[in-house]
Amino acid sequence: MTLRHTLGVVGSGTMGGQIAYQAALHGFEVHLVSRRAEGLQSACASSSALLRRRVEKGKLTAEACEATLARVTTSTGFEALSGMSTIIETVAEDRAVKREVYARISEHADEDAIIGTNSSTLGSSLLEDSVSHPERFLNIHFFNPALLMTLVEVVPGPHTAEVAVDHAMEFARAIGKTPVRLAREEYGFIANRILFIAIQEAMHLVEGGYIAPRDCDLAVRNALGWPMGPFELSDLVGLDVVEAILAEGARQTGDQRWEPLALLHDRVARGELGNKTGSGFFSKS
Ligand code: CAA
Repeated sequence: MTLRHTLGVVGSGTMGGQIAYQAALHGFEVHLVSRRAEGLQSACASSSALLRRRVEKGKLTAEACEATLARVTTSTGFEALSGMSTIIETVAEDRAVKREVYARISEHADEDAIIGTNSSTLGSSLLEDSVSHPERFLNIHFFNPALLMTLVEVVPGPHTAEVAVDHAMEFARAIGKTPVRLAREEYGFIANRILFIAIQEAMHLVEGGYIAPRDCDLAVRNALGWPMGPFELSDLVGLDVVEAILAEGARQTGDQRWEPLALLHDRVARGELGNKTGSGFFSKS
């Protein structure tokens, strides 16, 4: 298998859009695919705005920016994935939705394409029966915001061939990221395994009435050097996503420490999902 500088991204949420533009910045020809035309439009608009800000700040030349934008093509049809060397799926963390998407990807992906799921909560072994070539399928996990965060976790399942792992590592480096390879699947991989238990402890402190979210963030930023405190970070990630990662963690590990607290659950139930809805632990105008 050879890495060609072509990438198909399926799903036009925050992660899919930024992964697409990150690869385009590094010279990849990218096809961004989603069933929702309006999702594609907003993914392109928000990443384009971030890259144009880099031009204003002198971090990117106008020519490089325009060339990057021109390398991303959008499509509502999965046939755009044919000819892509690597395909990354970034759709909702829902097994049924992902299975449907993999059936469509399998219809159009090249024989030698490597397919990565960006799922945080589902190891590829939970989805491998829905892809036509499980030996070319694994988790390739990015962090939010994907245009800035440099880590990519590469996680093979028992079905994944070594050559696919090598391809994923080379792909991550080629788009300017630092890949780490896990020996085998484990819930939360590395970063989320550590991060979400820390976020959960912060929520216990707030729910127990020991501290307010803003002061807890202040403490964590100043004592531990985190760029964002746990509550600001939860708003960035999305409270629905945080809740889903915790709930799935409780299910998959059987460890009650992962069980989401009322503090989080009540906000999600009210539709306060963080930055994407304008309000979560904090309000964003
Ligand atoms: N998306 C893209 N770019 C963003 C951004 C976002 N959400 N937020 C800020 N930026 C950009 C800004 O545009 C700015 O870029 P320019 O200099 O080119 O204009 C740059 O980041 C710096 O912005 P700020 O000075 O406003 O903010 P900052 O210095 O605090 O940096 C940050 C922003 C990089 C997001 C930093 O706060 C940070 O690293 N936060 C922690 C993020 C983190 O931990 N992510 C992991 C989440 S867990 C996860 O993703 C896993 C999962 O499975 C859910």
